[in-house]
Amino acid sequence: MDKIVILTGAGISAESGLGTFRDEGGLWAQHRLEDVATPEGFARDPALVHRFYNARRVQAAGAAPNAAHHALARLEAEYGGDVLVVTQNVDGLHEAAGSRNVLHMHGALSGALCAACDHRWPAPLEMFPHDTCPRCHAQAARPDIVWFGEMSYHMEDIWAHLEEADIFAAIGTSGQVYPAAAFGQHAGRAGAHTIELNLEASANVRDFTEVRQGVASVIVPEWVDGILYR
Ligand code: OAD
Repeated sequence: MDKIVILTGAGISAESGLGTFRDEGGLWAQHRLEDVATPEGFARDPALVHRFYNARRVQAAGAAPNAAHHALARLEAEYGGDVLVVTQNVDGLHEAAGSRNVLHMHGALSGALCAACDHRWPAPLEMFPHDTCPRCHAQAARPDIVWFGEMSYHMEDIWAHLEEADIFAAIGTSGQVYPAAAFGQHAGRAGAHTIELNLEASANVRDFTEVRQGVASVIVPEWVDGILYR
């Protein structure tokens, strides 16, 4: 059976009511990325950064997976081969839909991380600058989210999975943030059939052998049906 590796981005959660970053009126139009998504921003104003992620954590907690998340969970459950979701998203909607083989390369809103000792623990719904690490007691609790200038998580495993993939799909991502933006080229060079499923052409659409455009809740279930019932 083919091995399928799927990269997801904010576009897959858009129809669950979670805003994307770079679409019109998206998160990066409302907030300065340098202020809320960098270690320097956190050092300057931790209260602002916590407010930003607290709002997103509350919003994500109230969101439900949509037909695209459910279709990927169905693919993992019903397909005979290996299905891996690598997500840039920090929400938990893949897991809520039932996907089990998920790697969060940009971290997760559900996690807290101690900036002093690297201890991790489940994040409360709201975090504050005076929160202390349960292990070393430093006032250094931060969201367990990968910020600009930091290394994405699980990268060694992800490159290896991409090299073994027979099919690589990128869903709902603008292709503007590396290393994820290089996955299509990497998997394609290693021999995978590469497909982009997105509302519009991404920045690196040329890296894909097949392109389907539309909303994720429609085109992802169609793509999954095509694999399961071909
Ligand atoms: P972007 O906001 O950059 O891109 C979202 C993509 O989804 C766009 O190409 C949209 O056209 C597409 N899209 C929007 N609605 C859609 C729908 N209903 N169905 C299908 N596609 C749709 O989000 P990402 O590519 O995920 O990182 O952004 C990558 C990273 O940049 C994020 O993980 C985040 C951000 O800065 C960090 O915060 C570290």
